[in-house]
Amino acid sequence: MTRIGWATDIHLSVCDESTRQGFYNEVRSAKLDQLWLGGDIGEADNIETLLSELIISVETRVYFVLGNHDFYFGSISGVRAMADQLCKQYEEAVYLSHCRVREVTPKIGVVGHDGWADGRIGDYETSMVMMHDYRHIEELSGYGKLERWEHMKAQGDQAARHLENTLPEAMEKYEEVYLLTHVPPLREACWYEGNIANDEWAPHFTCKAVGDTILEIAAKYPSNLSVFCGHTHSSGVCHPAPNITIYTYGAEYEKPRLSKILEL
Ligand SMILES: [Fe+2]
Ligand SMILES: [Fe+2]
Repeated sequence: MTRIGWATDIHLSVCDESTRQGFYNEVRSAKLDQLWLGGDIGEADNIETLLSELIISVETRVYFVLGNHDFYFGSISGVRAMADQLCKQYEEAVYLSHCRVREVTPKIGVVGHDGWADGRIGDYETSMVMMHDYRHIEELSGYGKLERWEHMKAQGDQAARHLENTLPEAMEKYEEVYLLTHVPPLREACWYEGNIANDEWAPHFTCKAVGDTILEIAAKYPSNLSVFCGHTHSSGVCHPAPNITIYTYGAEYEKPRLSKILEL
């Protein structure tokens, strides 16, 4: 039996010391073989410290992807490079966006990528939503709306390419495949307080490039694919294909917690 714990959007940077220690304690008490983390752990200027603290404290392997908040006040490329360094420093840490398929059990594999809201679902052009991403992340700031959209699409495409390179191998080799990502890959997975995102919000909370890739690849294999995502801080489940289930997990600021424990 392999015990996996899933947590997303833990936003440790808004937690005080005792709240952070409480979360690490919850993870340790769960006696996990692996902790899977779905991104939005901190911001660029504190994530190295917070992620190191977490890795040292939870006493289990940590498989993670990063979320949009993790790049605030810095750059996507800089934080991803830091994540690579951290994984060299701590052998129990695995950054799935830069990894091939990882075996969980002989029948179960896991892949992952941060994903990126690519503005392709809903109506980006008329949406008035102005995410902090567009001011506080180097790769997206300083552009007009349409120019920025091209950069958002490029980030989404990069996530999809990583999955094109890893998901087929996982679906071929394992009966059950888990895919960890931050951004919901379909509108049906983009829950907010029990409803699906509308045209105004969906562009900023879904990654169509990843969604299309998942649907296309999963259709070629009999294996089951479970996708775990977050980002909206609201929960829901959808089944976009007979062998795909997408779980979107909720979160609350200042209340990091395990959303799910799997016994595989
Ligand atoms: Fe979040
Ligand atoms: Fe997020």
